[in-house]
Amino acid sequence: MLDDVARVVVSERQIEARVAAMAEEIASFYADSKEGVTIVTILTGSLVFLADLIRRLPIRMRVALVTVSSYAGKTMQSRGAVLESAILPDLCNRDVLIVDDILDTGGTLRLVRDRLRAESPRSIRTAVMLRKRDKAPADLPVEFVGFDIEDEFVVGYGLDYDGLYRNLPYIGVLKPELYTTESIT
Ligand code: XMP
Repeated sequence: MLDDVARVVVSERQIEARVAAMAEEIASFYADSKEGVTIVTILTGSLVFLADLIRRLPIRMRVALVTVSSYAGKTMQSRGAVLESAILPDLCNRDVLIVDDILDTGGTLRLVRDRLRAESPRSIRTAVMLRKRDKAPADLPVEFVGFDIEDEFVVGYGLDYDGLYRNLPYIGVLKPELYTTESIT
């Protein structure tokens, strides 16, 4: 599996340091919130980031899950985000923090935000591990960002290609011959 990686984009050590710093930013942001924060995580790519982040958050918090699908099989182009499921507690008047792995076109985040707004939370903020700096839409502000990266398809630290590579402890790009371009149907 390690032979499949062409280049490391963000190293394990960089991730560790940045997640710790993000946790401090988030903890101080919600320090005065009596009810604490409800973290809504977008599965499956955010699992690793979520697990690292919440263990560094010394604040009252709950976790809720939503599943969004946008990439199927060996496809690197989004087919449009679809909300598959949402297991949500009562979010009325709650401070909500969406946690996602990567902000690409923003379709996923827009979909989830719209769904959560319907629950009348007090606030909705967003934390993403990665943001594709040239693609992320300007009208979709994200309060907490791990790293801004180039527009290339990355894997590792929860992100997959065809279901694989989520367990890489760093973020990298695969050798070009491993990516097959599949036309969108
Ligand atoms: P959008 O375009 O909706 O994309 O902002 C967000 C979701 O798409 C997936 N995604 C990626 N997955 N490497 C991946 O493994 C990538 O480079 C990549 N770009 C987008 C991801 O699930 C994310 O939540």
